[in-house]
Amino acid sequence: SAAEKGGYDYFMLKEIAEQPKAVADTLLGRIDASGALTLDEVRIPQSVLREADKVVIVACGTAFHAGLIAKYAIEHWTRIPCEVELASEFRYRDPILDQQTLVIAISQSGETMDTLMALRHAREQGAKVLAICNTNGSTIPRESDAVLYTHAGPEVAVASTKAFLTQLVACYLLALYLGQVRGTKWADEIRAVVRDLAQISGQVDRVLETMGPVRELARSLADKNTVLFLGRHVGYPVALEGALKLKELAYMHAEGFAAGELKHGPIALIEEDLPVVVVVPSPRGRSVLHDKIVSNIQEIRARGARTIVIAEEGDEAVVPYADHLVRIPATPVLLQPMVATVPLQVFACELATARGNEVDQPRNLAKSVTVE
Ligand code: AGP
Repeated sequence: SAAEKGGYDYFMLKEIAEQPKAVADTLLGRIDASGALTLDEVRIPQSVLREADKVVIVACGTAFHAGLIAKYAIEHWTRIPCEVELASEFRYRDPILDQQTLVIAISQSGETMDTLMALRHAREQGAKVLAICNTNGSTIPRESDAVLYTHAGPEVAVASTKAFLTQLVACYLLALYLGQVRGTKWADEIRAVVRDLAQISGQVDRVLETMGPVRELARSLADKNTVLFLGRHVGYPVALEGALKLKELAYMHAEGFAAGELKHGPIALIEEDLPVVVVVPSPRGRSVLHDKIVSNIQEIRARGARTIVIAEEGDEAVVPYADHLVRIPATPVLLQPMVATVPLQVFACELATARGNEVDQPRNLAKSVTVE
C-alpha cells in the first residue's frame, strides 16, 4: 500500500532514500568510546581469526559485488589473501578449504540456496563460516558459525539497494576487526577509518539531494538498447553493480568492464552516441589510476561515446570529456563505492519507470532465490 511505501511510489525509492539511516544503523553499537571495534557478536574465537590463512567470500548478485569490494579492504587492511566467488560456482570446483579458511557468506535474505549450499560445503571441509546477513534468524546465519547482521531494515524491492550499502559497512568493519585482532591494523588507524565511515551516511544524503539531473538523464536514455559501465579498482565492482541494476530494472543490455580491459576487446563496442557510465577513482592518493581512466574517457569519447562521468567533487580533469557529470563527495579510496553506487541505483530506477517497467517486481525475478 501507499502507506507502507512511506509516501514513495515504489519500495525501491523508499529504500534508496533510507540508505543514510541504514548505513548509520549498521555502525551503531559496534565501536566503543575509545574508537576500537567491539564485534563480540562475531562468535568465532579470536585465536581462530588470528590463525586464518585465507578468506573466501561467497555470495550471489549484488551481495557478490559487495564481496568483490570487500576483497580490497580485507587484503589491504589484514594482508590475508582473500578470494571472492559466486556461490553457485563454488562447490562444483572442489575448492581448497580447511580449518584455517574463514569463509564469509554475504546474503540479504539469508535464504539464497546457492549461498547456503556453498556454506554447507565449506563447513563440511572444516572451514569456519561467518554470515553477513540482513534477516534475523534466517537459514544462512543459523547454519553459520557466526553472524554479523546488517541493519538495513526490511528490503522489499527485488533490486537490492540499502542492503548493499550495509553489506559494505559490515565488510569494512569485519576487515578492520580482523586487522585489530591480528595486529595488522593499529588502534589509531582503525579510529581514523571509523571516523571516515561515520561520515558516509551524511555523504550519501548529499548525493541523494543532487539526483535531479541523473533522473532527467535517465529519462532521456529510455529508448537506448545498451549502456556500458566502466570502473577500476573498487570502482570496477561498482560498474558491475550499476550494470546489474540496469539489467534487472530496465531490461536493457548493460555490461560492466574494468576500464583497463577496454583495449583488450570491449572498446570495439564503442559507437556513436552509446551511453557509457564511468566511475572515476579519486585523483588523490592513487592518482595513477585516475589519470589512466581519464585517458579511457578521452578514448571512448573520441569514438563517439556519450560519456556519463561519476567523479569526486573538485576533480577538474574529467570536465572537458564528460557529456554528463555526476559529482560525488570525496571519500577515502576504499569507501568510494558507498557514494558512487547511489547515482547508479537512481539511474536504473528512473530508466525502469521511464520504460514503463514494474520497479519493485521486475519480470522473471524473485526477491530471494530459494532454488539452486
Ligand atoms: C539484487 O538486486 C538482486 N535482486 C540479486 O542479485 C540478489 O542480490 C541476489 O539474489 C542475492 O540475494 P541475497 O543477498 O538475498 O542472498
